[in-house]
Amino acid sequence: MAKFYQTDVRILEHKTVLPGYKSLFFSHPTLAKNARPGQFLLLDCGTFFRRPFTISSVKGIIIEILYKVIGKGTRYLSEKKKGDWLNVFGPLGNGFNPSPQGERTSPENLVFVAGGTGIASLRFLAQKISVPGILFYGAKTKNDIIGLDVFKQKKWHIKISTEDCSSGSKGLVTDTFKKYLSGSRHLPSYLYSAGPKPMLKRISEICISNGIAGQVSLEEIIACGVGACRGCAVKTAVKTNKFIYKTVCKDGPVFDIREILWD
Ligand SMILES: Cc1cc2nc3c(=O)[nH]c(=O)nc-3n(C[C@H](O)[C@H](O)[C@H](O)COP(=O)(O)OP(=O)(O)OC[C@H]3O[C@@H](n4cnc5c(N)ncnc54)[C@H](O)[C@@H]3O)c2cc1C
Ligand code: FES
Repeated sequence: MAKFYQTDVRILEHKTVLPGYKSLFFSHPTLAKNARPGQFLLLDCGTFFRRPFTISSVKGIIIEILYKVIGKGTRYLSEKKKGDWLNVFGPLGNGFNPSPQGERTSPENLVFVAGGTGIASLRFLAQKISVPGILFYGAKTKNDIIGLDVFKQKKWHIKISTEDCSSGSKGLVTDTFKKYLSGSRHLPSYLYSAGPKPMLKRISEICISNGIAGQVSLEEIIACGVGACRGCAVKTAVKTNKFIYKTVCKDGPVFDIREILWD
């Protein structure tokens, strides 16, 4: 059975990465040892329901949360200072399987597609995968590009797309990825993706039509975080014309790319 920890941790560092984006660091030896890429924590954000955040990096016993300040909870969190206490609950959910097809040998084999803050979970996954691949990363503008340090250190090929053309190619990351596939002699053998739902839906369509296997990490509004309230249920395929509901918080957030039945 999965082991969760609910505990107060002391914030070791809390820095602004870019305006509106912050990185929060704390230490917890057992949580750090048990956390897997794609899993998340519920943080006390001063709101009735805690807020979910992916574990974005683990170095030794230090855990990092990389987040965007968007509303009441993240604003409250962003005001916490080094030395303040924070109540955390996790690690929750089913993370990525980093070696579904055994060890990879060629960078062309592995592709990550990230949209917005979806980069946070892929960053931790990149820490765990020894061979670099290609990262396609889409953001609204160059001022929304975060979390590339791990990919740069590990010598990944990075292809940026921004909607306003302030960095990399202009347009959506899904279009950049599709263009790459049509001009590429070798299709990627495996893909991991995290980001907004419309992006994941399009990525799934592209992968399925090109025979590319992979996993996607979904975001839904999370309440209980442990599969009890069913508030985060999504439709998943069982057989032709059959489906069951699975929860993003407990069965996911990571699912096989063929599993989700998109609205
Ligand atoms: C499994 C999971 C992992 C996540 N990991 C990260 C992460 O690593 N970094 C990061 O920046 N964000 C992450 N998010 C999104 C993050 O949880 C939301 O941004 C946060 O809950 C917003 O809280 P708030 O109180 O500031 O916003 P609110 O005031 O509650 O809402 C403001 C806006 O944010 C939307 N929103 C609220 N909750 C969510 C949610 N759960 N997902 C998406 N949009 C939401 C609302 O619909 C509204 O439009 C994750 C979400 C999930 C489900
Ligand atoms: S949030 Fe309650 S079941 Fe997922």
